[in-house]
Amino acid sequence: MKLAERIATRRNIKTFRQDPVDETMVNAVLQTATMAPNHRLTEPWEVVFVGPKARAALNHGADFGGAPIVLAVLSNRGQNELEREENLVATACFVQNFLLLLHAEGVGTRWASLGSLPKNREILGAAEKYDVVGVFGIGYPSEIPAPKMRTPISEKTRHLP
Ligand SMILES: Cc1cc2nc3c(=O)[nH]c(=O)nc-3n(C[C@H](O)[C@H](O)[C@H](O)COP(=O)(O)O)c2cc1C
Repeated sequence: MKLAERIATRRNIKTFRQDPVDETMVNAVLQTATMAPNHRLTEPWEVVFVGPKARAALNHGADFGGAPIVLAVLSNRGQNELEREENLVATACFVQNFLLLLHAEGVGTRWASLGSLPKNREILGAAEKYDVVGVFGIGYPSEIPAPKMRTPISEKTRHLP
């Protein structure tokens, strides 16, 4: 499948089958995802695998769609606001790599943003110097949602003289 098709067919998956996902594959995918652009090679991303106790404590309404693996991605805030912003952008690039590489393996992901709430930061062991970018359910999809169409980019493009 061409990259453009991979990007177009990735979905935020709501529910997962119980089939296990190979953690070695997930770790390999995480490693590849680190080739994301990042200014001054700060490599700001950190990954936290969420075990059953922490997962229960997070108390996600849908329990991450029953995903066999749950992990959080954190971004180091750096030394100042500019670094924090750049690091967040770099970590978002890392996350997109990760989502697309898993999609290429037939594995779906469900993005939850509950990790940024103070009590959930504590459960995730996120020290003050980290932003929590997302908590991700990972598994083989039991259902693939229909695509949500996007606005033509021409409507969001300007040309300066
Ligand atoms: C920063 C960020 C936070 C998100 N948080 C959530 C969330 O808390 N719950 C959720 O269902 N989806 C969340 N999503 C996923 C979006 O809802 C999803 O990408 C969007 O509906 C488009 O669907 P698609 O990814 O299948 O194209 C988040 C996505 C991003 C980029």
